[in-house]
Order: sequence, then structure tokens, then C-alpha cells
Amino acid sequence: MSHLLPLSRVAKLVGQPRHALQEIIRSGVLATFDGMVELDELLRVFPEVKWDDDAEFRRVQEIKDKAFAKRMYESVLPDKQVLAARLTELSDEYAAARTLLLHYGNVMAWLDEKIDEFDEDASAETHHALHSVRAFLLRNLAEMPPDALLAQAAIAQERILKVMSAHVTLQPSGHEFLVEGNDTLLDAALRNGISLNYGCSNGNCGECKARLISGEVKKVRAHDYVQKQADKDAGMILMCSYAPVNDVVIEASIEGAHDIPVQQISAKVKSVEIFNPQMAALHLLTPRSQRLQYLGGQSIEVSIGGGHGRYAIASCPCEDRNIELQIPHRHGDALAEAVFTALKAGDTVALVGPFGEFVLDEDSPRPVIFLAFGVGFAPIKSLVQHAMSLELAESIDLHWVADETGHYQDNLCRTWADALDNFNYLPHAATGDLDALLKNIAADYPDLHRFDVYAAGSAAQLECARRHFLSEGLDDARWFAEALGA
Ligand code: FES
Repeated sequence: MSHLLPLSRVAKLVGQPRHALQEIIRSGVLATFDGMVELDELLRVFPEVKWDDDAEFRRVQEIKDKAFAKRMYESVLPDKQVLAARLTELSDEYAAARTLLLHYGNVMAWLDEKIDEFDEDASAETHHALHSVRAFLLRNLAEMPPDALLAQAAIAQERILKVMSAHVTLQPSGHEFLVEGNDTLLDAALRNGISLNYGCSNGNCGECKARLISGEVKKVRAHDYVQKQADKDAGMILMCSYAPVNDVVIEASIEGAHDIPVQQISAKVKSVEIFNPQMAALHLLTPRSQRLQYLGGQSIEVSIGGGHGRYAIASCPCEDRNIELQIPHRHGDALAEAVFTALKAGDTVALVGPFGEFVLDEDSPRPVIFLAFGVGFAPIKSLVQHAMSLELAESIDLHWVADETGHYQDNLCRTWADALDNFNYLPHAATGDLDALLKNIAADYPDLHRFDVYAAGSAAQLECARRHFLSEGLDDARWFAEALGA
């Protein structure tokens, strides 16, 4: 009987990002069946994986989670009802396998008796044949196949993963992700950079309704929203209140920049991080009952006291209620002055947004070049983290051309490069000859026609970059840019 595994779970088991696995599949090295991988095939392609090395797996996961500002990998158990249901399912599987083994044992005993019976009046020739059959059966039953221990360890790891997490496929988009720990379906989708439709994230508005196509879910958070009987009969569930018991398929639409409504939120200051005298980060926390729905690369209007301005969001939608804005210290800017001198943890900040369409093309598996000019790093940072959460891009190159604010998050970029094999960080010092620098950067990509390029900076910087990238072969339709104010 074949043992099929979904791709997200295979990625977790072998410690590879999904885009790397998809590349292996595209090259024909790893075969799939209906988008799933057979256990034998997995063992054939990844014979070197240490299936029982849980400590190493966790260490690598922690490095990655830290680098992507995600929640650290925790041993958070699923909700107790979900856990009980998963353990029940596992014991049912164990009982079925055990019963089958007992049955095979009985068949073997019966066969043994029959061989004795036939042997009583058998000719010498038949006696020899029966003896050979019995010897063959006993030998093969006594001996484990050579890769049985490997398969046993892989199945054990996969079973643990199945108790701790469940696999979700979204239709019609085909997005896949794992729901881990005590996350709801909505929590997990957002953590994985998938922009589902939702409102309150708290069981009140009904905006996160979706249809369960297959699998089983359980309500893990109470909700006040009253579901109509017709919705229940149609299999509708609230993504912010339910968690999957086993692998599920759900019909839910993915939000584009146009679908997300403008929201008004009062957020609290979590901290102010001064990078240098020219640049600071404002870390905000939205209320538990009202997360900001946005896409990586979008911007937001901020009001603090008498100060007001529109800023690119520097955080990733996968960061739950945490929002980061990066504020340059500009002369005469009341908001910047407040951030650098007066603002403290717990202060209230009014947010309106999101705005803009500088967002990732989530359907593109092409390699990506991110190009940040000075403080244009803020929206680029958001896009980079969103791209990392999605694990779709074949490779990511980040070019950061400094201005007077410097490479104020240089260490973070280097951490990304250390954590990911397919991420390259290329900082460039401020230059008086931007034209020559951009000409050289573009010329470094002889296969530029294969890439997507996302750039953020002043209109003049973007125009210069676009000219050089297009002349080196970039498809104009794959150039995405955000012009920042002076
Ligand atoms: S987001 Fe409001 S009920 Fe789920």
C-alpha cells in the first residue's frame, strides 16, 4: 500500500523550502502523484536525511524563524479537542495496521498447516517444492528489507508532524500550508503569507467564511457571529475560529490589493528603535480584535498628535498584530520629531489604510531582484519577508543602494543571507554616479528576461534603473516600482 505525503509536509520533513522541492520536481528528479510524494520515492531521493535528528531540525527552523521575524518554533500543542481527534485517528490507523498484521499471521499459520497436510502424502518432488516455499516464506518474514529502518524512521517523523500539524490546500488557488500548534486556519494562512479575506479575526464579522470541501475541522475559538443553517449545511466555516483535525481542502478566495478595504485602526506603540540620527523604526501593535489587513509593500497613513504622514509598511502581513514603519528624521516633520524625541511605549497612533498596489505577484515562481534606494528599503523589506513566507521564488537578490541614512538594517539582511541558500544580499555604498552603478548591476544578469524586479526609491532613481534593466533584457511587464516622495 502506498504512503502519500503532501508537498508542504515533505518540505518540512527534509528541511527544504517548497520552491527548492518544486525545482527538484520540475527537473524530473522527484516524481509526484496528484501533487503528492510517495514515501518510497522520498527515501530514494533523500537517502541522506537523518529522520530521527529532531534537535538539528529544530535548530535550523529556529534560525529561519528568527531571520524572517516569524513566531519562534515552539512546542505549542494543538487545541486539546484537535489533539484528541488526531490521536484518535492515529490509534485507529494503528489498530487497523495491527489487525491486518494479526490477519496475515493467521493466514501464515493456516498456510503452514496446509503445507504439512499436503506434505503427508506428497511425492519427493512435491515435498521438496513445499519445503522450498516454506523456507522462502520463513526467511523473508524473518529478514527486514534493507531500507525498512529508514522507512520506519521517516514514517515515525511524519506521524509526529501529523499530530502536531495539519496540511491545508486552498481551492481554487492551489495554495498549500501547514497549520501548526494551536493556530486557527486564518492564523496559519497569514503566517504563511497568504492573504485570505477576513475582518475582525475574532469571530464577530463573518468575513472569513470559507467552504470546507474535504477533511475535518474543529471549533477552537468561540465566535459571536451567528452562522445560518444554510451556511452550515453548505459546509461553511469561520477560518478565524476553526482548526483542521486532519488534512483539509478549503474553498476560499485570495485577496488582491484592490479587494482589501481601507481600515481605521488605533494601534499602540510597542517600541521606537533608533537606527541612527537619520532613521528610526516605529513598532506598533494593533488591537487583538482588529488586525490590519494589508499586503507586503503597501503603505499606510499615520497620525500622532499633530504629526501626519503616509509611510510604506516595513513589516510582513505574516507578523500577526505587529506593524513596523520606518521614519526618516526630516527637518520640519512633526511626526518624525515625535518619533525621535517624545513617543513612548503605550502611546496611541491612528492608522488609516492600506494603500497602494506595490505588491508581490504571488503566482510568479520566477527569480526576483529587489532594488532598494535609501529609505526605499522599507517597502522592499516587507516584500522580501512576504516572498520568504510564500517560499515560491526560485532565488532572491536584494540590492540596497545607500543614501545618507546608510544600510541601517545591514545585520538583518546578512542574517537573511545566512539563513537561506537562495538569498543574496548586495549592499552598495552611496554614489555620485548612480547611472554607472545601475548599468553594472543590470549587466550582471545576462538572463534578465527570466526575472521579476521590484524597486523602491525616488522617481529619478527608478527611471534610471528601469532604463538599464530594460536595455539588458528585462520584460517591461516584470518591472514593479514604487516611487517615494521627496
Ligand atoms: S474575521 Fe471576523 S469572523 Fe472571522
